[in-house]
Amino acid sequence: MPSLQWTPEVERATAHLYQRVKNVISPVEWPFMAPYVKAINELKKERDAVILAHNYQTPEIFHCVADIGGDSLQLAIEATKVKSGIIVQCGVHFMAETSKILNPHKRVLIPDQRAGCSLASSITGADVRLLRERFPGVPVVAYVNTSADVKAEVDICCTSSNAVQVVESLNAPTVIFLPDQYLASYVASQTGVKIIAWKGACEVHERFTANELEAYRAADPSVQIIAHPECPPDVIGVADYTGSTKGMIDWVRKNKPKRVVMVTECSMADNVKAELPDVEFVKPCNLCPHMKRITLPKILDSLLSARGGRHRSRNRRARPPRRRADDSPEKLKSRRPLEQRKASHVRRAARARRTAAAIVGRR
Ligand code: 13P
Ligand code: SF4
Repeated sequence: MPSLQWTPEVERATAHLYQRVKNVISPVEWPFMAPYVKAINELKKERDAVILAHNYQTPEIFHCVADIGGDSLQLAIEATKVKSGIIVQCGVHFMAETSKILNPHKRVLIPDQRAGCSLASSITGADVRLLRERFPGVPVVAYVNTSADVKAEVDICCTSSNAVQVVESLNAPTVIFLPDQYLASYVASQTGVKIIAWKGACEVHERFTANELEAYRAADPSVQIIAHPECPPDVIGVADYTGSTKGMIDWVRKNKPKRVVMVTECSMADNVKAELPDVEFVKPCNLCPHMKRITLPKILDSLLSARGGRHRSRNRRARPPRRRADDSPEKLKSRRPLEQRKASHVRRAARARRTAAAIVGRR
């Protein structure tokens, strides 16, 4: 275990990193973070690991230990390019799973396995099979915020950056879009394709209301309001711009508004503020409890536990079905051997990989 004391050496070694976050992390907080930052940065080199961080991670993670930061699309693309044997995913479960689907031979670590997502947990593969029975022949598009189980059942995957283009690429008059009802209605507003939506919602974005945003505008008519498409339609109706987290960041970089409300998860405004201190961020602060499960101590723990290198697949030798206490000889005979059961998992993983690969244009 590395030393986690605040010493003059730690202060010196992390001074350049503190410069990146000094607008958003006070000098009183930094001595509690810096020893972890130093230890993580040393260990990730030693273990040949790369750290990917979503825009919703807190600034000490996003700016001080991450090698690559971005929205879901950028992270999926970058995950296919990394050379390191280990990816540490600072984000939520479906993001780590997507990295693994796109990099089956790399070890992908998530610092807290409980970092879920209300959208991903709103639907299962079995639900998609029922939808297909109900709407035969209608293609199914899944938002990347879904489990691999769901990705294995759908035709194509998208992120909030490319949802409209992916829906239109199918050249179909009607498309099933899941699981986010609000992203689905945003896509429907941008295209002539008829959208059948699943009723999932992001627990962070569904809490914003048009009334609160109108109150900001009434207080300062010059304020700029930019919203993520996971927000309800009346919220998007009030916004000056709607886009993915990367789209929102690029909009602020380009327009440099005097005062802006970023209608999305709260930490993103801190991450942009660290870069653009002259922009004032008005913050209705809705935090994603799942993203916030990822912390510096947990990142350090996951690196300490990594044995490193390429993922070794388990012994694939043929094995007879395992015997259970209540097995009759007939039951035992009828059970599929392990290799057959594995083969069906492998087929499902390959389907998930095909649909997810579309996110990064590798179909
Ligand atoms: P993007 O970063 O792709 O815009 O997604 C936002 C989000 O809620 C991820 O969970
Ligand atoms: Fe899921 Fe919403 Fe959290 Fe993103 S912000 S991980 S969509 S719950």
